[in-house]
Amino acid sequence: MRTSRRILLKGGVLTGAATLAPGSLTPVDLRSTAAATPFRDTPFSLGVASGDPLPDGFVIWTRLAVQPLADDGLGGVSPHSREIRWQVARDERFRYVEASGRAWTGPAEGHSVHVEVHGLRPGREYFYRFRTDREVSPVGRTRTAPDPASYPSSLAMSFASCAQLEHGWFTAYRRMAEDEPELVLHLGDYLYEYSPGTVPADSGNVRAHEGPETASLADYRRRHAQYKTDPDLQLLHATAPWVVVFDDHEVCDNWADEVPRTAASVPYFRDRRAAALRAYYENMPLRRSAIPRGLEMVAHRRLAWGRLATFHMLDTRQHRDDQSCGDGMGSCGAEQDAARSILGESQESWLAEGFAASTATWDFLGQQVPFARMDTSPTPDERLSMDSWDGYPACRDRVVRAWQDAGVRNPVVLTGDVHDHLASEVLSDWEDPSSVLAPELVCTSITSGGDGHDSDDGRYRWAEQNPHIRFWTDLRGYVRTRVTPDSVTADFRCLTGVSRPDQPAFTRASYVIADGDHALHQVSATPLSSL
Ligand SMILES: [Fe+2]
Repeated sequence: MRTSRRILLKGGVLTGAATLAPGSLTPVDLRSTAAATPFRDTPFSLGVASGDPLPDGFVIWTRLAVQPLADDGLGGVSPHSREIRWQVARDERFRYVEASGRAWTGPAEGHSVHVEVHGLRPGREYFYRFRTDREVSPVGRTRTAPDPASYPSSLAMSFASCAQLEHGWFTAYRRMAEDEPELVLHLGDYLYEYSPGTVPADSGNVRAHEGPETASLADYRRRHAQYKTDPDLQLLHATAPWVVVFDDHEVCDNWADEVPRTAASVPYFRDRRAAALRAYYENMPLRRSAIPRGLEMVAHRRLAWGRLATFHMLDTRQHRDDQSCGDGMGSCGAEQDAARSILGESQESWLAEGFAASTATWDFLGQQVPFARMDTSPTPDERLSMDSWDGYPACRDRVVRAWQDAGVRNPVVLTGDVHDHLASEVLSDWEDPSSVLAPELVCTSITSGGDGHDSDDGRYRWAEQNPHIRFWTDLRGYVRTRVTPDSVTADFRCLTGVSRPDQPAFTRASYVIADGDHALHQVSATPLSSL
Protein backbone atom coordinates (compact mmCIF):
# COMPACT_ATOMS: atom_id res chain seq x y z
CA MET A 1 0.00 0.00 0.00
CA ARG A 2 2.75 2.43 0.98
CA THR A 3 4.78 1.76 -2.15
CA SER A 4 1.80 2.18 -4.41
CA ARG A 5 0.97 5.48 -2.82
CA ARG A 6 4.52 6.69 -3.45
CA ILE A 7 4.21 5.85 -7.10
CA LEU A 8 0.80 7.35 -7.53
CA LEU A 9 1.56 10.55 -5.67
CA LYS A 10 5.18 10.99 -6.74
CA GLY A 11 6.00 14.54 -7.73
CA GLY A 12 2.44 15.67 -7.15
CA VAL A 13 1.20 14.15 -10.41
CA LEU A 14 0.80 10.71 -11.85
CA THR A 15 3.91 9.06 -13.14
CA GLY A 16 4.15 9.44 -16.89
CA ALA A 17 4.40 6.85 -19.60
CA ALA A 18 7.18 4.31 -19.81
CA THR A 19 8.55 2.61 -22.90
CA LEU A 20 8.41 -1.10 -23.62
CA ALA A 21 9.88 -3.05 -26.49
CA PRO A 22 7.15 -3.81 -29.06
CA GLY A 23 5.51 -7.14 -28.52
CA SER A 24 6.57 -7.48 -24.89
CA LEU A 25 4.57 -6.93 -21.77
CA THR A 26 7.33 -7.75 -19.36
CA PRO A 27 7.28 -5.99 -16.02
CA VAL A 28 8.94 -2.59 -16.02
CA ASP A 29 9.86 -0.14 -13.34
CA LEU A 30 7.62 2.72 -14.29
CA ARG A 31 9.50 5.13 -12.06
CA SER A 32 12.93 4.59 -13.59
CA THR A 33 11.66 4.84 -17.15
CA ALA A 34 9.15 7.61 -16.59
CA ALA A 35 11.44 10.23 -18.08
CA ALA A 36 12.05 8.30 -21.31
CA THR A 37 8.88 9.55 -22.96
CA PRO A 38 7.89 13.17 -22.42
CA PHE A 39 4.36 13.45 -21.09
CA ARG A 40 3.23 15.62 -24.01
CA ASP A 41 3.82 12.75 -26.40
CA THR A 42 1.89 10.09 -24.55
CA PRO A 43 -1.51 9.09 -25.86
CA PHE A 44 -2.44 8.51 -22.20
CA SER A 45 -2.69 12.22 -21.40
CA LEU A 46 -6.18 11.74 -19.94
CA GLY A 47 -5.05 9.20 -17.36
CA VAL A 48 -6.72 5.96 -16.37
CA ALA A 49 -9.78 5.09 -14.31
CA SER A 50 -11.69 2.15 -12.88
CA GLY A 51 -15.21 1.69 -11.64
CA ASP A 52 -18.29 -0.35 -10.72
CA PRO A 53 -16.49 -3.03 -8.69
CA LEU A 54 -18.00 -6.51 -8.46
CA PRO A 55 -16.65 -9.39 -6.34
CA ASP A 56 -14.78 -10.81 -9.34
CA GLY A 57 -13.76 -7.68 -11.24
CA PHE A 58 -14.29 -4.07 -12.30
CA VAL A 59 -14.16 -1.84 -15.36
CA ILE A 60 -10.85 -0.30 -16.36
CA TRP A 61 -10.88 2.73 -18.62
CA THR A 62 -8.64 4.97 -20.63
CA ARG A 63 -9.02 7.25 -23.64
CA LEU A 64 -6.27 8.08 -26.10
CA ALA A 65 -5.46 11.74 -26.76
CA VAL A 66 -2.24 13.46 -27.76
CA GLN A 67 -3.86 16.89 -28.18
CA PRO A 68 -6.71 16.75 -25.67
CA LEU A 69 -8.17 20.12 -26.72
CA ALA A 70 -8.36 19.40 -30.47
CA ASP A 71 -11.48 21.05 -31.97
CA ASP A 72 -12.96 17.84 -33.33
CA GLY A 73 -12.98 16.23 -29.89
CA LEU A 74 -10.84 13.33 -31.12
CA GLY A 75 -7.71 14.31 -29.22
CA GLY A 76 -5.37 14.59 -32.20
CA VAL A 77 -5.34 10.81 -32.60
CA SER A 78 -5.30 9.55 -36.18
CA PRO A 79 -8.66 8.09 -37.29
CA HIS A 80 -7.64 4.43 -37.24
CA SER A 81 -8.61 1.50 -35.10
CA ARG A 82 -5.93 0.67 -32.58
CA GLU A 83 -5.16 -2.29 -30.42
CA ILE A 84 -4.77 -1.55 -26.74
CA ARG A 85 -3.25 -4.12 -24.44
CA TRP A 86 -4.14 -4.17 -20.77
CA GLN A 87 -2.91 -5.87 -17.63
CA VAL A 88 -4.24 -6.32 -14.12
CA ALA A 89 -1.76 -7.33 -11.43
CA ARG A 90 -1.63 -7.90 -7.71
CA ASP A 91 1.33 -5.56 -7.35
CA GLU A 92 2.16 -2.15 -8.73
CA ARG A 93 5.29 -3.45 -10.48
CA PHE A 94 3.27 -6.04 -12.40
CA ARG A 95 5.30 -9.02 -11.22
CA TYR A 96 2.08 -10.93 -10.49
CA VAL A 97 -0.21 -10.38 -13.46
CA GLU A 98 -3.64 -11.89 -12.81
CA ALA A 99 -5.41 -10.93 -16.02
CA SER A 100 -4.47 -9.41 -19.36
CA GLY A 101 -5.91 -9.00 -22.82
CA ARG A 102 -6.44 -6.84 -25.87
CA ALA A 103 -9.13 -4.35 -26.79
CA TRP A 104 -9.74 -2.28 -29.88
CA THR A 105 -10.80 1.32 -30.12
CA GLY A 106 -11.14 4.00 -32.77
CA PRO A 107 -12.78 7.31 -33.59
CA ALA A 108 -16.30 5.85 -33.29
CA GLU A 109 -15.58 5.28 -29.57
CA GLY A 110 -13.80 8.62 -29.19
CA HIS A 111 -10.64 6.49 -28.79
CA SER A 112 -11.90 5.30 -25.41
CA VAL A 113 -11.40 1.83 -23.94
CA HIS A 114 -13.64 0.09 -21.42
CA VAL A 115 -12.54 -3.36 -20.30
CA GLU A 116 -14.75 -5.39 -17.97
CA VAL A 117 -12.29 -7.56 -16.07
CA HIS A 118 -13.57 -10.82 -14.55
CA GLY A 119 -12.13 -13.83 -12.73
CA LEU A 120 -10.40 -11.93 -9.94
CA ARG A 121 -10.59 -12.58 -6.21
CA PRO A 122 -13.09 -10.69 -4.04
CA GLY A 123 -12.10 -7.95 -1.62
CA ARG A 124 -8.60 -7.44 -3.07
CA GLU A 125 -6.53 -4.52 -4.23
CA TYR A 126 -5.31 -4.63 -7.85
CA PHE A 127 -3.24 -2.49 -10.21
CA TYR A 128 -3.83 -1.97 -13.92
CA ARG A 129 -2.26 -0.31 -16.94
CA PHE A 130 -2.64 -0.09 -20.72
CA ARG A 131 -0.22 -0.12 -23.62
CA THR A 132 -0.48 0.87 -27.26
CA ASP A 133 2.47 0.78 -29.62
CA ARG A 134 5.42 1.61 -27.40
CA GLU A 135 3.49 3.74 -24.95
CA VAL A 136 2.48 2.56 -21.49
CA SER A 137 -0.16 4.29 -19.42
CA PRO A 138 0.13 5.47 -15.83
CA VAL A 139 -0.68 2.73 -13.30
CA GLY A 140 -4.08 2.80 -11.63
CA ARG A 141 -5.02 1.19 -8.35
CA THR A 142 -8.45 -0.34 -7.83
CA ARG A 143 -10.19 -3.14 -5.96
CA THR A 144 -12.84 -5.81 -6.20
CA ALA A 145 -15.94 -5.73 -4.02
CA PRO A 146 -16.00 -8.18 -1.10
CA ASP A 147 -17.54 -11.64 -1.40
CA PRO A 148 -21.36 -11.22 -1.34
CA ALA A 149 -21.67 -13.57 1.65
CA SER A 150 -18.95 -11.82 3.67
CA TYR A 151 -19.45 -9.18 6.31
CA PRO A 152 -16.60 -6.65 6.02
CA SER A 153 -15.59 -4.91 9.22
CA SER A 154 -15.32 -1.53 7.49
CA LEU A 155 -15.52 0.41 4.26
CA ALA A 156 -13.80 3.74 3.55
CA MET A 157 -16.06 5.51 1.05
CA SER A 158 -15.89 9.16 0.01
CA PHE A 159 -18.32 11.03 -2.19
CA ALA A 160 -18.31 14.29 -4.14
CA SER A 161 -20.14 16.34 -6.74
CA CYS A 162 -20.05 19.57 -8.72
CA ALA A 163 -16.64 20.39 -10.13
CA GLN A 164 -16.77 23.60 -12.18
CA LEU A 165 -13.27 23.75 -13.65
CA GLU A 166 -13.31 27.55 -13.97
CA HIS A 167 -14.28 28.16 -10.34
CA GLY A 168 -11.21 26.68 -8.70
CA TRP A 169 -8.44 24.13 -8.48
CA PHE A 170 -9.50 20.51 -8.05
CA THR A 171 -7.42 20.17 -4.87
CA ALA A 172 -10.37 18.49 -3.12
CA TYR A 173 -9.97 15.53 -5.49
CA ARG A 174 -6.30 15.30 -4.44
CA ARG A 175 -7.20 15.45 -0.74
CA MET A 176 -9.75 12.68 -1.33
CA ALA A 177 -7.03 10.56 -2.95
CA GLU A 178 -4.69 11.17 0.00
CA ASP A 179 -7.31 9.59 2.30
CA GLU A 180 -6.95 6.38 0.22
CA PRO A 181 -10.67 5.52 0.04
CA GLU A 182 -11.69 2.05 -1.08
CA LEU A 183 -14.62 3.45 -3.05
CA VAL A 184 -15.51 6.86 -4.51
CA LEU A 185 -19.02 7.93 -5.46
CA HIS A 186 -19.50 10.87 -7.81
CA LEU A 187 -23.05 12.20 -7.61
CA GLY A 188 -23.10 14.46 -10.64
CA ASP A 189 -21.98 17.72 -12.23
CA TYR A 190 -18.67 16.07 -13.09
CA LEU A 191 -18.33 18.87 -15.62
CA TYR A 192 -20.23 21.97 -16.71
CA GLU A 193 -21.55 22.89 -20.15
CA TYR A 194 -20.92 26.65 -20.03
CA SER A 195 -18.90 28.70 -22.49
CA PRO A 196 -15.77 30.37 -21.06
CA GLY A 197 -16.42 32.93 -18.32
CA THR A 198 -20.23 32.80 -18.55
CA VAL A 199 -20.55 31.95 -14.87
CA PRO A 200 -18.07 33.82 -12.66
CA ALA A 201 -17.36 32.64 -9.11
CA ASP A 202 -17.31 35.25 -6.31
CA SER A 203 -13.66 34.43 -5.67
CA GLY A 204 -12.87 34.82 -9.39
CA ASN A 205 -12.43 32.23 -12.11
CA VAL A 206 -9.00 30.62 -12.01
CA ARG A 207 -9.09 29.10 -15.52
CA ALA A 208 -11.39 28.98 -18.54
CA HIS A 209 -13.38 26.37 -20.37
CA GLU A 210 -12.15 25.60 -23.86
CA GLY A 211 -14.62 25.99 -26.70
CA PRO A 212 -18.26 27.12 -26.85
CA GLU A 213 -21.15 25.97 -24.63
CA THR A 214 -21.25 22.23 -25.22
CA ALA A 215 -23.89 21.09 -27.70
CA SER A 216 -22.33 18.71 -30.24
CA LEU A 217 -20.59 15.39 -29.67
CA ALA A 218 -17.26 17.06 -30.52
CA ASP A 219 -17.93 19.78 -27.90
CA TYR A 220 -18.73 17.28 -25.13
CA ARG A 221 -15.76 15.07 -26.03
CA ARG A 222 -13.42 18.05 -25.89
CA ARG A 223 -14.90 19.30 -22.60
CA HIS A 224 -14.44 15.88 -21.00
CA ALA A 225 -10.87 15.83 -22.29
CA GLN A 226 -10.16 19.25 -20.81
CA TYR A 227 -11.41 18.13 -17.39
CA LYS A 228 -9.54 14.83 -17.58
CA THR A 229 -6.21 16.62 -18.13
CA ASP A 230 -6.46 17.94 -14.56
CA PRO A 231 -3.76 16.15 -12.48
CA ASP A 232 -5.81 16.14 -9.26
CA LEU A 233 -8.78 14.54 -11.01
CA GLN A 234 -6.48 12.00 -12.71
CA LEU A 235 -4.93 11.16 -9.36
CA LEU A 236 -8.26 10.36 -7.70
CA HIS A 237 -9.37 8.24 -10.68
CA ALA A 238 -6.11 6.29 -10.44
CA THR A 239 -6.46 5.76 -6.68
CA ALA A 240 -9.77 3.91 -6.25
CA PRO A 241 -12.76 2.59 -8.18
CA TRP A 242 -15.48 5.17 -8.81
CA VAL A 243 -19.22 4.71 -9.09
CA VAL A 244 -20.59 7.61 -11.11
CA VAL A 245 -24.03 9.00 -11.82
CA PHE A 246 -24.69 12.19 -13.80
CA ASP A 247 -26.87 15.14 -12.85
CA ASP A 248 -27.86 18.04 -15.09
CA HIS A 249 -24.66 19.85 -16.12
CA GLU A 250 -23.18 16.83 -17.88
CA VAL A 251 -25.90 17.70 -20.42
CA CYS A 252 -27.23 21.19 -19.57
CA ASP A 253 -28.81 23.10 -16.68
CA ASN A 254 -31.92 21.52 -15.08
CA TRP A 255 -32.93 19.27 -17.96
CA ALA A 256 -35.80 16.86 -17.38
CA ASP A 257 -36.12 13.84 -19.68
CA GLU A 258 -36.59 15.42 -23.12
CA VAL A 259 -37.15 18.98 -21.90
CA PRO A 260 -34.35 21.53 -21.45
CA ARG A 261 -34.75 24.35 -18.94
CA THR A 262 -34.57 27.11 -21.51
CA ALA A 263 -36.54 27.51 -24.68
CA ALA A 264 -34.22 25.59 -27.01
CA SER A 265 -36.32 23.51 -29.34
CA VAL A 266 -37.03 19.97 -28.19
CA PRO A 267 -35.71 18.25 -31.37
CA TYR A 268 -32.43 20.10 -30.90
CA PHE A 269 -32.33 19.10 -27.23
CA ARG A 270 -32.78 15.43 -28.11
CA ASP A 271 -29.62 15.57 -30.25
CA ARG A 272 -27.79 17.43 -27.52
CA ARG A 273 -28.80 14.91 -24.85
CA ALA A 274 -27.75 11.98 -27.05
CA ALA A 275 -24.35 13.60 -27.71
CA ALA A 276 -23.80 14.43 -24.04
CA LEU A 277 -24.67 10.94 -22.80
CA ARG A 278 -22.52 9.30 -25.45
CA ALA A 279 -19.53 11.45 -24.45
CA TYR A 280 -20.27 10.74 -20.78
CA TYR A 281 -20.17 6.99 -21.40
CA GLU A 282 -16.98 7.30 -23.44
CA ASN A 283 -15.25 9.20 -20.64
CA MET A 284 -16.33 7.25 -17.58
CA PRO A 285 -15.43 3.80 -16.20
CA LEU A 286 -18.86 2.36 -16.96
CA ARG A 287 -19.95 -1.13 -17.99
CA ARG A 288 -21.33 -2.06 -21.43
CA SER A 289 -24.82 -2.06 -19.89
CA ALA A 290 -24.50 1.76 -19.80
CA ILE A 291 -23.75 2.20 -23.52
CA PRO A 292 -26.35 4.77 -24.66
CA ARG A 293 -28.89 3.68 -27.24
CA GLY A 294 -30.01 6.86 -28.92
CA LEU A 295 -31.40 9.08 -26.20
CA GLU A 296 -31.35 6.49 -23.42
CA MET A 297 -28.62 5.33 -21.11
CA VAL A 298 -29.19 2.87 -18.26
CA ALA A 299 -27.56 4.78 -15.41
CA HIS A 300 -29.33 3.46 -12.30
CA ARG A 301 -27.75 0.35 -10.82
CA ARG A 302 -26.95 -1.43 -7.60
CA LEU A 303 -23.65 -2.41 -6.03
CA ALA A 304 -23.02 -4.41 -2.88
CA TRP A 305 -20.14 -4.29 -0.40
CA GLY A 306 -20.69 -7.77 1.02
CA ARG A 307 -23.51 -7.74 3.54
CA LEU A 308 -22.25 -4.48 5.03
CA ALA A 309 -23.67 -2.03 2.46
CA THR A 310 -25.76 -1.83 -0.66
CA PHE A 311 -25.57 1.20 -2.95
CA HIS A 312 -28.71 2.02 -4.94
CA MET A 313 -27.45 4.49 -7.53
CA LEU A 314 -30.33 6.55 -8.91
CA ASP A 315 -31.00 8.50 -12.11
CA THR A 316 -33.14 11.54 -11.36
CA ARG A 317 -32.79 13.18 -14.82
CA GLN A 318 -33.70 10.84 -17.66
CA HIS A 319 -37.08 9.65 -16.42
CA ARG A 320 -38.44 12.59 -14.43
CA ASP A 321 -41.56 14.54 -15.21
CA ASP A 322 -40.79 18.12 -16.20
CA GLN A 323 -40.29 20.47 -13.24
CA SER A 324 -43.59 22.04 -12.20
CA CYS A 325 -44.48 25.65 -11.41
CA GLY A 326 -41.99 27.07 -13.94
CA ASP A 327 -38.94 25.20 -12.58
CA GLY A 328 -38.10 27.88 -10.05
CA MET A 329 -37.96 28.18 -6.27
CA GLY A 330 -41.70 28.53 -5.78
CA SER A 331 -44.26 25.78 -5.27
CA CYS A 332 -47.66 26.38 -6.86
CA GLY A 333 -49.53 23.22 -5.87
CA ALA A 334 -49.01 21.47 -9.20
CA GLU A 335 -45.96 19.69 -7.77
CA GLN A 336 -48.30 17.79 -5.39
CA ASP A 337 -49.83 15.73 -8.23
CA ALA A 338 -49.50 12.10 -7.08
CA ALA A 339 -48.77 10.95 -10.63
CA ARG A 340 -45.53 12.95 -10.80
CA SER A 341 -42.22 11.12 -10.48
CA ILE A 342 -38.56 12.11 -10.38
CA LEU A 343 -37.50 8.49 -11.07
CA GLY A 344 -40.13 7.23 -13.52
CA GLU A 345 -42.35 4.26 -12.87
CA SER A 346 -39.93 1.49 -13.77
CA GLN A 347 -37.05 2.90 -11.72
CA GLU A 348 -39.41 3.30 -8.74
CA SER A 349 -40.33 -0.41 -9.01
CA TRP A 350 -36.68 -1.37 -9.42
CA LEU A 351 -35.80 0.58 -6.26
CA ALA A 352 -38.65 -0.99 -4.25
CA GLU A 353 -37.52 -4.45 -5.39
CA GLY A 354 -33.97 -3.61 -4.35
CA PHE A 355 -35.13 -2.56 -0.89
CA ALA A 356 -37.13 -5.78 -0.56
CA ALA A 357 -34.17 -7.94 -1.59
CA SER A 358 -31.54 -6.13 0.50
CA THR A 359 -30.07 -7.84 3.54
CA ALA A 360 -27.40 -5.19 4.04
CA THR A 361 -26.83 -3.37 7.30
CA TRP A 362 -26.69 -0.06 5.39
CA ASP A 363 -28.70 0.83 2.28
CA PHE A 364 -27.27 3.95 0.64
CA LEU A 365 -29.22 5.91 -1.95
CA GLY A 366 -26.55 7.53 -4.14
CA GLN A 367 -28.38 10.29 -5.95
CA GLN A 368 -28.26 13.84 -7.23
CA VAL A 369 -30.67 16.39 -5.70
CA PRO A 370 -31.82 17.18 -2.12
CA PHE A 371 -34.24 14.56 -0.80
CA ALA A 372 -35.30 16.19 2.49
CA ARG A 373 -37.32 19.37 2.43
CA MET A 374 -35.41 22.66 2.09
CA ASP A 375 -37.54 25.74 2.68
CA THR A 376 -35.51 28.83 1.84
CA SER A 377 -38.19 31.42 2.56
CA PRO A 378 -37.61 33.75 5.52
CA THR A 379 -41.38 34.27 5.82
CA PRO A 380 -44.13 31.75 6.72
CA ASP A 381 -44.76 30.97 3.02
CA GLU A 382 -42.63 28.26 1.40
CA ARG A 383 -39.78 28.57 -1.03
CA LEU A 384 -38.94 25.10 -2.35
CA SER A 385 -36.80 24.04 -5.31
CA MET A 386 -38.95 22.47 -8.00
CA ASP A 387 -35.83 20.74 -9.35
CA SER A 388 -35.24 18.69 -6.18
CA TRP A 389 -37.43 16.06 -4.45
CA ASP A 390 -39.50 18.94 -3.04
CA GLY A 391 -40.85 19.21 -6.59
CA TYR A 392 -41.91 15.54 -6.51
CA PRO A 393 -43.29 15.00 -2.96
CA ALA A 394 -45.58 12.06 -3.83
CA CYS A 395 -42.64 10.21 -5.37
CA ARG A 396 -40.57 10.93 -2.25
CA ASP A 397 -43.37 9.49 -0.10
CA ARG A 398 -43.48 6.35 -2.26
CA VAL A 399 -39.72 5.81 -1.89
CA VAL A 400 -39.96 6.22 1.90
CA ARG A 401 -42.93 3.84 2.05
CA ALA A 402 -41.01 1.31 -0.07
CA TRP A 403 -38.07 1.20 2.36
CA GLN A 404 -40.45 1.06 5.32
CA ASP A 405 -42.51 -1.77 3.76
CA ALA A 406 -39.30 -3.67 3.01
CA GLY A 407 -38.04 -3.22 6.58
CA VAL A 408 -34.81 -1.59 5.41
CA ARG A 409 -32.63 -1.48 8.52
CA ASN A 410 -30.62 1.68 7.85
CA PRO A 411 -31.53 3.82 4.83
CA VAL A 412 -28.99 6.62 4.24
CA VAL A 413 -29.48 9.23 1.50
CA LEU A 414 -26.38 10.64 -0.22
CA THR A 415 -26.79 13.83 -2.24
CA GLY A 416 -24.90 16.44 -4.27
CA ASP A 417 -26.16 19.41 -6.32
CA VAL A 418 -26.47 22.33 -3.90
CA HIS A 419 -22.81 23.32 -3.42
CA ASP A 420 -23.12 23.27 0.38
CA HIS A 421 -22.40 20.62 2.99
CA LEU A 422 -25.60 19.68 4.82
CA ALA A 423 -26.25 17.16 7.58
CA SER A 424 -29.96 16.67 7.28
CA GLU A 425 -32.71 14.29 8.35
CA VAL A 426 -35.69 12.98 6.42
CA LEU A 427 -38.79 13.42 8.59
CA SER A 428 -42.24 11.82 8.42
CA ASP A 429 -43.67 15.17 9.60
CA TRP A 430 -41.68 18.22 8.49
CA GLU A 431 -43.05 20.13 11.53
CA ASP A 432 -41.77 17.53 13.99
CA PRO A 433 -37.98 17.20 14.14
CA SER A 434 -38.28 14.08 16.30
CA SER A 435 -40.00 12.12 13.49
CA VAL A 436 -36.71 11.01 11.89
CA LEU A 437 -36.88 8.38 9.15
CA ALA A 438 -33.36 8.53 7.71
CA PRO A 439 -30.24 10.69 7.61
CA GLU A 440 -29.29 12.61 4.47
CA LEU A 441 -25.65 13.54 3.90
CA VAL A 442 -25.25 16.29 1.30
CA CYS A 443 -21.74 16.96 -0.02
CA THR A 444 -20.64 20.43 -1.00
CA SER A 445 -19.01 21.06 -4.39
CA ILE A 446 -15.44 20.32 -5.38
CA THR A 447 -15.16 23.89 -6.74
CA SER A 448 -18.56 25.20 -7.94
CA GLY A 449 -19.22 28.59 -6.37
CA GLY A 450 -15.55 29.33 -5.63
CA ASP A 451 -14.01 29.68 -2.15
CA GLY A 452 -17.36 30.12 -0.35
CA HIS A 453 -17.68 30.96 3.33
CA ASP A 454 -18.27 29.38 6.72
CA SER A 455 -20.31 30.27 9.80
CA ASP A 456 -18.91 29.61 13.24
CA ASP A 457 -21.99 27.81 14.53
CA GLY A 458 -22.55 25.69 11.37
CA ARG A 459 -26.17 26.76 11.46
CA TYR A 460 -28.23 26.68 8.26
CA ARG A 461 -29.30 30.14 7.17
CA TRP A 462 -32.97 29.11 7.30
CA ALA A 463 -32.62 26.77 10.30
CA GLU A 464 -35.85 27.97 11.87
CA GLN A 465 -37.94 26.71 8.95
CA ASN A 466 -35.78 23.57 8.64
CA PRO A 467 -35.13 22.16 12.12
CA HIS A 468 -34.07 18.86 10.51
CA ILE A 469 -31.00 20.50 8.89
CA ARG A 470 -28.42 20.01 11.64
CA PHE A 471 -25.32 21.39 9.98
CA TRP A 472 -24.39 23.61 7.06
CA THR A 473 -21.33 25.19 5.51
CA ASP A 474 -20.66 26.85 2.17
CA LEU A 475 -16.99 25.86 1.97
CA ARG A 476 -15.75 23.51 -0.79
CA GLY A 477 -14.82 19.87 -0.23
CA TYR A 478 -16.22 16.35 -0.03
CA VAL A 479 -17.68 13.90 2.47
CA ARG A 480 -15.52 11.07 3.81
CA THR A 481 -17.30 8.15 5.43
CA ARG A 482 -16.27 5.13 7.41
CA VAL A 483 -18.92 2.43 7.34
CA THR A 484 -18.83 -0.35 9.94
CA PRO A 485 -21.43 -2.85 11.18
CA ASP A 486 -22.14 -0.53 14.12
CA SER A 487 -22.10 2.95 12.62
CA VAL A 488 -21.46 5.33 9.75
CA THR A 489 -19.11 8.20 10.51
CA ALA A 490 -19.32 11.13 8.09
CA ASP A 491 -16.54 13.71 8.03
CA PHE A 492 -17.51 16.92 6.25
CA ARG A 493 -14.11 17.70 4.75
CA CYS A 494 -13.45 21.30 3.68
CA LEU A 495 -10.73 23.22 1.90
CA THR A 496 -9.50 26.58 3.12
CA GLY A 497 -9.97 27.76 -0.47
CA VAL A 498 -9.99 26.71 -4.11
CA SER A 499 -8.97 29.98 -5.80
CA ARG A 500 -5.37 29.24 -4.83
CA PRO A 501 -3.81 25.87 -5.67
CA ASP A 502 -2.89 23.14 -3.19
CA GLN A 503 -4.80 24.39 -0.14
CA PRO A 504 -5.14 22.13 2.91
CA ALA A 505 -8.26 20.20 3.86
CA PHE A 506 -9.72 19.94 7.36
CA THR A 507 -12.70 18.22 8.94
CA ARG A 508 -15.27 20.96 9.47
CA ALA A 509 -17.66 18.63 11.35
CA SER A 510 -18.13 14.92 11.99
CA TYR A 511 -21.42 13.14 12.48
CA VAL A 512 -22.21 9.59 13.50
CA ILE A 513 -25.22 7.46 12.61
CA ALA A 514 -25.60 4.43 14.87
CA ASP A 515 -27.04 1.17 13.55
CA GLY A 516 -30.84 1.25 13.92
CA ASP A 517 -30.94 4.87 15.08
CA HIS A 518 -31.46 6.92 11.83
CA ALA A 519 -30.60 10.23 13.55
CA LEU A 520 -27.40 12.24 13.12
CA HIS A 521 -25.19 12.93 16.13
CA GLN A 522 -22.43 15.50 15.99
CA VAL A 523 -19.12 14.29 17.38
CA SER A 524 -16.92 17.25 16.49
CA ALA A 525 -16.96 20.68 14.89
CA THR A 526 -14.08 22.90 13.78
CA PRO A 527 -15.04 26.25 12.24
CA LEU A 528 -12.71 27.74 9.65
CA SER A 529 -12.12 30.74 11.95
CA SER A 530 -10.60 28.46 14.62
CA LEU A 531 -7.84 27.07 12.39
FE1 LIG B 1 -23.58 21.73 -9.52
